[in-house]
Amino acid sequence: MGRLLLSSGQVSVIISACVVFAFTFALFMSGYVLQQRYVHNLQAAIRPRLPKPLPAAKPIEPPTLDVKWARPVGSRPEVDETYAQYIAGQTMDWSRLGYVQVVREHVELCSAVMLLSDLHAMKSPAKRILMFPRLWLANVEDAKKDPQMATTWRLLKAAARRYGVTLMPMEPIVDGSDATLPSSYSLASIYSLVDYERILYLEGPGVLLDASALDSLLAFSKSEPLAAYPATPARNDMSTSLLLINPSQEKFHQMKKLRESRPITDLNLFRKTFNAPESLISEWSLSMGNVYYESQDLRHVTGDFNATAFEEATTFVRLSEPELPGPEYDMPYLDRVKLRPQDQQAEEVWSRLYERFRSQRMEVCGLDLEVYSPVVLGGLFAQGT
Ligand SMILES: *[C@@H]1O[C@H](CO)[C@@H](O)[C@H](O)[C@H]1NC(C)=O
Repeated sequence: MGRLLLSSGQVSVIISACVVFAFTFALFMSGYVLQQRYVHNLQAAIRPRLPKPLPAAKPIEPPTLDVKWARPVGSRPEVDETYAQYIAGQTMDWSRLGYVQVVREHVELCSAVMLLSDLHAMKSPAKRILMFPRLWLANVEDAKKDPQMATTWRLLKAAARRYGVTLMPMEPIVDGSDATLPSSYSLASIYSLVDYERILYLEGPGVLLDASALDSLLAFSKSEPLAAYPATPARNDMSTSLLLINPSQEKFHQMKKLRESRPITDLNLFRKTFNAPESLISEWSLSMGNVYYESQDLRHVTGDFNATAFEEATTFVRLSEPELPGPEYDMPYLDRVKLRPQDQQAEEVWSRLYERFRSQRMEVCGLDLEVYSPVVLGGLFAQGT
């Protein structure tokens, strides 16, 4: 009986030992599994990171065609040509198409970088190029001492690193002229970018509302020496507001030679080298909407102006009022009241554009608006003309 009791005690001990063992084992196993997982993660974490394989080469797709482009009005080219252009777009080499900004003085640099940053943000597949005086790269020591030069260096670096901009230092258009003067440089220098098939130049400062229309213009245009934005609706003169060019050494040297023979403005240099209306952007291309618009025109809109419709149909607005030096300068309140459009919807658009420019200037360049000082501005105007 005693033995039996003992053995039943033994049994219960064995059973409880088994239970304890089973639980311990389960606990161990779950711990082990967890630990293995942890070790695996840890191994993954400390393993040297391999560079990501480059994405497989695939043809870059043409930009989404703009609805404005898809429904052109007015003189439309032959259907065959449109189709040929479309096919050309399918196999397009975007590395040979680009947007260029040309900067001659420090104060213009931020606005140029802003425009290129917009193209980057809007995912334009074309290259972004910034031309500026080579002189700016020369004085490393000056760059540290001179706050203006320090800002210039900071912006050039930001353009290249943050917005993938190709930096292109340029020489004065006339050999041996004073490299410190903005007037020694010319827009004709864009013809020296012969690595590119087509280049689109936009005159800033301004606000880009839609890159796809410009991408379409770059992608689906024929390569011509010049397609300039017309100065008037009558199409008898050109402007340098928007230029689509096929760079070539020949044109570059021709313009350089002409400029060397006498000092003329860039606009006159273009007028003398090319002829309107043959060298103007086709009416068909411009039927996309307001490809280029100037803010001062918002003051003259007619009664049924619709802000939403305007913003949808507009690609780029240059911020320009003849009375003011530019949107980089803080606009005094009284000037603002005097200059703003009377039409309520136009005024909304106008104010929105200036505000967008101001906030973007801070975001992209870390710069406030310049102080408005009529004395300094008098000097600037004299220089600009
Ligand atoms: C303005 O244009 C938008 C889009 O084109 C349209 O939806 C809206 O109804 C228009 N507003 C007025 C007041 O006409």
